[in-house]
Amino acid sequence: MSHFVDITDLDAEAITDVMILAQMPIEGLGRPLEGLGAALIFEKPSNRTRHSMEMAVVQLGGHPIYTQGGEVGIDSREPAEDIIRIMAGYHRIIAARVFDHAVLERMIAALDTTDDDESTSVVNMLSDRSHPLQALADLLTMSQLLGDLSDRTVAWVGDYNNVARSLGEVSAMNGMHLRYSAPAGYGPEQSELDRLIALGAASAASSPDPKEAVQGAHAVHTDTWVSMGEEAEAEQRRADFAGYRVDEALMRLAAPDAIFMHCLPAYRGLEVTEAVIDGPQSAVITQGHNRLHAARGALAHLMGVRP
Ligand code: CP
Ligand code: NVA
Repeated sequence: MSHFVDITDLDAEAITDVMILAQMPIEGLGRPLEGLGAALIFEKPSNRTRHSMEMAVVQLGGHPIYTQGGEVGIDSREPAEDIIRIMAGYHRIIAARVFDHAVLERMIAALDTTDDDESTSVVNMLSDRSHPLQALADLLTMSQLLGDLSDRTVAWVGDYNNVARSLGEVSAMNGMHLRYSAPAGYGPEQSELDRLIALGAASAASSPDPKEAVQGAHAVHTDTWVSMGEEAEAEQRRADFAGYRVDEALMRLAAPDAIFMHCLPAYRGLEVTEAVIDGPQSAVITQGHNRLHAARGALAHLMGVRP
């Protein structure tokens, strides 16, 4: 049984295979989900993840069922363990967007300790810790637009959040240099940078100065300063991150061919200016479209399809 809740659930070879699968014609993948179900459970709102996952399941021959978290009531209507063990009787894939990453781990543990169904995969569609499907699309976008990624530099300006962590992992596993910049208390700990080096990063550094992080970078990423679930901290976060907006002056410090990336949704005028996100260096629409290709590649790989 295999699950996909963190990028590190895949090794470097598997990630390369997913990238190839993502770019193959759909017909070349066969219909590995033919006659099979995929539950897509969302405790939080979504545009890209819901639509890309639904379409990826359909393109692989399966049947997606979208469910809002409130309908199944994870740990309110019934425990996550009961939900997953019942759904495993209906679905080959159970994908969830959850507030608490531990819920995904409990779901996997419940499947692993039961004989109910040994062929159900749990997929993370974003938790407080990670967003691996986003990271696959980010990798696909960077490799399409920048070519060979080894020794290229990824800069992340802003909160070291779920998206930043998964992007760091996938970039590290592809030998990239990683530079983070965040205000005190919002950046990666040294232990986290050490972990990224151990995963294969050419280097990993964090600085409170966004100029230092962006200098010469090939891909400049940011994300909202207030992730879903952090709304109560919004005012404080907007004050703390005020100096971390990606604007044209900051982008001028990056490499001349640098791309700007953002997982979206974006808040223009806060973490990024309109001129940058809607400007010539922005890759955000390609990046968003790549969510479908990456999701299809990841699900095909989970189903045992290999290039
Ligand atoms: N980037 C991303 O996951 O977008 P959604 O929240 O719209 O799914
Ligand atoms: N970091 C953001 C990403 C949204 C796709 C959040 O968790 O809300």
